[in-house]
Amino acid sequence: MNQPVQVLVIGSLNMDLVTETERAPQVGETIMGSDFRQLPGGKGANQAVAAARLGAEVIMIGAVGNDDLGDHLIRTMAQEGIKTNAIRKVADRPSGIAQITLAQGDNRIIVVPGANLACTPEWVDQHQSLFQQADIVVLQLEVPLNTVIRAVELANQYDVPVVLNPAPAQALPAELYHQIAYLTPNETELAYLIRSLRVQDGLDQDVVIQEKEGFALLLEQKVPHLLMTVGAEGVFYASQANPQLQHHPAFPVAVVDTTGAGDAFNGAFAVAIAEGMSMEKSIRFASAAAALKVQKFGAQAGMPTRDQVEAFLEQHDE
Ligand code: RIB
Repeated sequence: MNQPVQVLVIGSLNMDLVTETERAPQVGETIMGSDFRQLPGGKGANQAVAAARLGAEVIMIGAVGNDDLGDHLIRTMAQEGIKTNAIRKVADRPSGIAQITLAQGDNRIIVVPGANLACTPEWVDQHQSLFQQADIVVLQLEVPLNTVIRAVELANQYDVPVVLNPAPAQALPAELYHQIAYLTPNETELAYLIRSLRVQDGLDQDVVIQEKEGFALLLEQKVPHLLMTVGAEGVFYASQANPQLQHHPAFPVAVVDTTGAGDAFNGAFAVAIAEGMSMEKSIRFASAAAALKVQKFGAQAGMPTRDQVEAFLEQHDE
């Protein structure tokens, strides 16, 4: 058997407080929910679990509070076989939480980052050796932006490709784009990135920009590979080498819970690329992981194993 690839994730760990309800409440309205669960989540941790279940050796840099939630979050990572030595516990902030409302097949999420803000550039600097060993670095935007910028710098210094899932969306410095091998926004995040670039350039941000134009604008920032995930519609992809927009349809499946679908995609995509799969195969592999995830409840609990992804791909052979 081949050696497992090494995936370094720098990102958030949250406890997801998940409420299920028939519909989301209106402003000022109280409604009765049907179920409540407390489940480990956080985009960083979810992507780490996705990669680990697919057979990668995963190391995570992050931060939790010195509280029961923090213990629980670290324990879950360790149970998934993820190396947790670089997840710090801080006394001055509570563990991050995400309040998630599930209604009508979709989710609404509010993240309170808490201890995730203690995943600082200095903390990342203390773990430089992890960059040296990594085959791929995976980042999102639930830890401070300066931390992400520092992690990208280190990854570039050690010549390790970066996957940045720019979620939740925030303005990125223009000079960051060309340093990110794979940028993976969803459609809302892509629109946000375009608006923020227009603001940086002093242009009107209230214009409606079509998908194609949005892609072209981001490619102008010299992002090597741009992948936009659009839920049930699949993935749109373009690159510096081939700026022609390609559409990779999603696998049609019955949805139970979309929470963590993007994380399943990103974790799986990172593993596939690090293993040397072609771009087309990597997108297909990651789309299969996301399709399996949405059929199960819970961000991390629903992440598929390698066998499940491979069996699913066989069943859906083209
Ligand atoms: O992507 C899903 C995740 O977003 C949830 O697990 C929640 O913690 C938020 O970070």
